[in-house]
Amino acid sequence: MNRVWNFSAGPAVLPISVIQEAQEHLMALPGVGMSILEISHRSKTFEAVIQEAEANLRSLLRIPDHYKVLFLQGGATLQFSMVPINFLRGSSADYILTGTWGQKAIAEAKREGSPRVAWSNKEENFIRTPHAGEVQIDPQAAYVHMTSNETIQGVQFPETPDSGGKPLICDSSSDFMCRPLPLDKYAMIYAGAQKNAGPAGATMVIIRDDLLERVPENMHSMLDYRLQAENDSLYNTPPVFSIYIVMLVTRWLRDEMGGLEKMHAHNQKKASLLYDTIDESGGFYRGHAVKECRSLMNVTWRLPTEELEAEFVKQAKAEGMHELKGHRSVGGIRASIYNAMPIEGVQTLQAFMKEFQRKMG
Ligand SMILES: Cc1ncc(COP(=O)(O)O)c(C=O)c1O
Repeated sequence: MNRVWNFSAGPAVLPISVIQEAQEHLMALPGVGMSILEISHRSKTFEAVIQEAEANLRSLLRIPDHYKVLFLQGGATLQFSMVPINFLRGSSADYILTGTWGQKAIAEAKREGSPRVAWSNKEENFIRTPHAGEVQIDPQAAYVHMTSNETIQGVQFPETPDSGGKPLICDSSSDFMCRPLPLDKYAMIYAGAQKNAGPAGATMVIIRDDLLERVPENMHSMLDYRLQAENDSLYNTPPVFSIYIVMLVTRWLRDEMGGLEKMHAHNQKKASLLYDTIDESGGFYRGHAVKECRSLMNVTWRLPTEELEAEFVKQAKAEGMHELKGHRSVGGIRASIYNAMPIEGVQTLQAFMKEFQRKMG
């Protein structure tokens, strides 16, 4: 097997056992005689798949009955539009801005109403999330939007912010299921599958019933959360394969990783290997985010020069560690260490960082 350590920000590494099971059953699902790629989305077989994917998500995230779980398409990017199309409609909403993806969400909201930047860390180049009490929520806001983990900057909310009693809507694309969540603080959470939940294709939306009731009449069908919920995500053909892999990944999270508390502890252990190496490097490696807001999923840092950064990426790749180049908009290095990245991969990177500093520092 010629697999490398894949530090891609997404689509990203998946659990080996999931890929193996998918491979084993790709020609024909047991007892079905057809591939998951070939079955009808209206078949009993797929019904069982989507129901199990939902049940697994519900048990892992402890999702109460008054929330619906939807599997949509269009990525988190379509949610940047669907949220304002359904809930903004000419009014105002508060956006907590902690990085690039939040900016994109605001840009789409502007087409539908007046999003207000309730708090931004742009002037510091997005290195942290707000402290408690720093965000003043507008009493007129239809909702409050946040990005729990800014994938490009590597900045993650350590805790859920206070939304001042307004419905809190969260883009959780890059830290979905990386830790348990106080779900009752959120009116809606959405996440593209292709980081922590599966391959690209499905977008999970967890939405509270009272928010669904606010969906206006006469919406375009595919953009209508209520219609999608009424049809159990089967209004049209859903991304069957992606949902099947989400089912396998959530099974793996439950059975092999032991649930989200254990996954969280494991993620903390993995991330601290890299952050400790950065902190102990005497300034050779400089982390981007302030310590309290460091992402468990996307570790971002700089080296003394861009030339050294390019050399780091090149030498790491030669040793089997791929996709470490930071996003083009911020530069530096980014190691995405999602749930499925084994600790051995992180240890290999840590050893490489130490050796690189010894040679080049
Ligand atoms: C936090 C966050 N939001 C949104 C997106 C956009 O996701 P998609 O490409 O699924 O639309 C990404 C993708 O990397 C992301 O990391």
